[in-house]
Amino acid sequence: MINKDQIKLRIEELRLEINEHNRLYYVENKPNITDIQYDFLIKELEKLELENPEFYDANSPTQRVGSDINNQFDQVEHRYSMLSLGNTYSAEELINFDNRIRKLIENDYFYTCELKFDGASISLQYLNGKLKRAVTRGDGIKGDDVTKNVMTIKSIPLVLNGKNIPKNFEIRGEILMNHQVFENLNKQRELAGESLYANPRNTASGSLKLLNSSEVSKRKLDCYLYSLLGENLPSDSHFENLQFAKTWGFKISEHLKKAKNISEVIEYINYWNNERYNLNFDIDGIVIKVDSRHLQDELGFTSKTPRWAISYKFKAVRVETILESISYQVGRTGAITPVANLKPVLLAGTTVKRASLYNSDQMKQLDVRIGDTVFVEKGGEIIPKIIGVNLDKRKANLLPENFIASCPECGTELIKIESESAHYCPNEAFCPPQITGKIEHFISRNALNINAGEATVKALFEAGFVKNIADLYSLTKNQILTLDGFKEKSALNLLQSIEESKKIPFENVLFGIGIRHVGITSAKKLAKQLKSIENIKNADIEQLKELEDIGEIVAQSIVHFFKSTENMMVIQRLQIAGLNFELFENKGFSDKLSGKNIVISGTFSISRDEIKTMIETNGGKLQSSVSNKTDLFLCGENVGPSKLEKASKLNIKTINESEFYKLIE
Ligand code: IVH
Repeated sequence: MINKDQIKLRIEELRLEINEHNRLYYVENKPNITDIQYDFLIKELEKLELENPEFYDANSPTQRVGSDINNQFDQVEHRYSMLSLGNTYSAEELINFDNRIRKLIENDYFYTCELKFDGASISLQYLNGKLKRAVTRGDGIKGDDVTKNVMTIKSIPLVLNGKNIPKNFEIRGEILMNHQVFENLNKQRELAGESLYANPRNTASGSLKLLNSSEVSKRKLDCYLYSLLGENLPSDSHFENLQFAKTWGFKISEHLKKAKNISEVIEYINYWNNERYNLNFDIDGIVIKVDSRHLQDELGFTSKTPRWAISYKFKAVRVETILESISYQVGRTGAITPVANLKPVLLAGTTVKRASLYNSDQMKQLDVRIGDTVFVEKGGEIIPKIIGVNLDKRKANLLPENFIASCPECGTELIKIESESAHYCPNEAFCPPQITGKIEHFISRNALNINAGEATVKALFEAGFVKNIADLYSLTKNQILTLDGFKEKSALNLLQSIEESKKIPFENVLFGIGIRHVGITSAKKLAKQLKSIENIKNADIEQLKELEDIGEIVAQSIVHFFKSTENMMVIQRLQIAGLNFELFENKGFSDKLSGKNIVISGTFSISRDEIKTMIETNGGKLQSSVSNKTDLFLCGENVGPSKLEKASKLNIKTINESEFYKLIE
């Protein structure tokens, strides 16, 4: 028998644990357990509190729905509180939900089945067809006014069009980041030597809380709407109201389904349980709602959740495997990433052998030990994660894992910067993976755009020909010919590509030299405002911080970079080689594109408007679609496949962004 003292102890333990998870989730944006694990803790606490009312506490985490309030935003009270949904995990629980409803309602009823989007919830208020205010969920009663940020989200209409638009209503939905945007963002961060974001959900909710809305707009957030609230909605059916909202300009999921009974609901759930991996955003379950609004009113709410709706949470696909070893990877900027090497295991159709452990904090949290049986999970996220250790299977002799103290590649003692979670190898100039990483970055597309792969860089480094980026400009044909796989023609091609890089604009060179935290966007901003490497080098932290879009961290990093004698020597050699270290301002007009009809497609490292202006100021004519009159097809990233196909069918010359710059140079 468990006595009251033990129950009290468990309740206190659960409250502490849940509070800590709330902090990690809502404040730090870094949850370290899954939603399901979290829900189980909450459920256990709710049950114990219900059975033992003498231990009631108004501040127990069960008494609130969690908060994402940030003091830097104005707080606004919700007109209708933003409650959460009860969760279910099995068909049986759903049947119970349906039985409860059937007891309360005499007539027939329908359900609407919806995807449960895994992002950040938002409430949008519209008055006279215009977006008036956007508020986060906050604690459900009041939330943060994030209107300015939300206005940057292109899929949210600022002004509505269409019939039957209520004068004053609210619409709620979920702000998301789709997989492609998330991966591109992380690629950019990797190139800028910054730590990677863990998953789209936290990145979306973090982005929504950025203080600079122009930064938010770059995050390319998306928003699906899923419920309407107000007095004069067009229909009694929730499903139909959403169809109306679609005609007014809102993004409503195509995957809504009206179900006649709970078996149709279960069918929908089973279908999405497998199909969810084919969506380009994360969902973590399905939401089931009684469709009729007057029946919803009849059913009403419990203290925290509606009686007329419930969510079904997908089981994360989880397997167990053995942690065989931990290796440490050294990135271009010297950041060390611990990687778990696993006994290969099949998970949701792919064999998993490795999983990132992110950093030393995460490793400590998980307390993974070599030989442990670990749980690997593929939830909504794309990359499999180690989410914990099966302690029941831990052998007695396993020792806690200490993060390495010195660099696995060059032996230098690692440093840890207070404000960052990563450890760094400070041997920037001589640590092999840092050197090859820097060279790879230097030659990448947005930098010097030199045509060589990872293997060539490694071979050039190992042969001792290229030990820093400046060495590329003293390479000889004979040296290249000693490398495996190189013949006369390929060697000349490489040299040609290196020669061409001398024409690359200053901003790309500035990005290429690899100052930590200076991504392509900051490089452009710096180049535009300070105009030359000389001015950037001579600026102090205060002067740098005064520039548009340059913050403390970037400023510090720039000053740190130019303090290094090795860096200064490399830059001097690059200057002698003839690279651009000053901004070339194309003030005048040219006729380099004169008489040419040009179609552009995709995204570019600068805005489309800037590209368009460049075309026009150089005499080119823009066309909106490819035809046999088109002379040039300028392709960015993610170019539309049908346009590309048409251009190649019509044999139209296709060029990329850097080829375009060369053309108008
Ligand atoms: S309806 C009264 N529908 O799930 C509750 N919520 O706990 C009305 N969510 O944070 C919510 N997709 O942001 C609803 N199709 C959907 C949803 C959805 C995601 C989120 C919502 C809330 C949580 C519910």
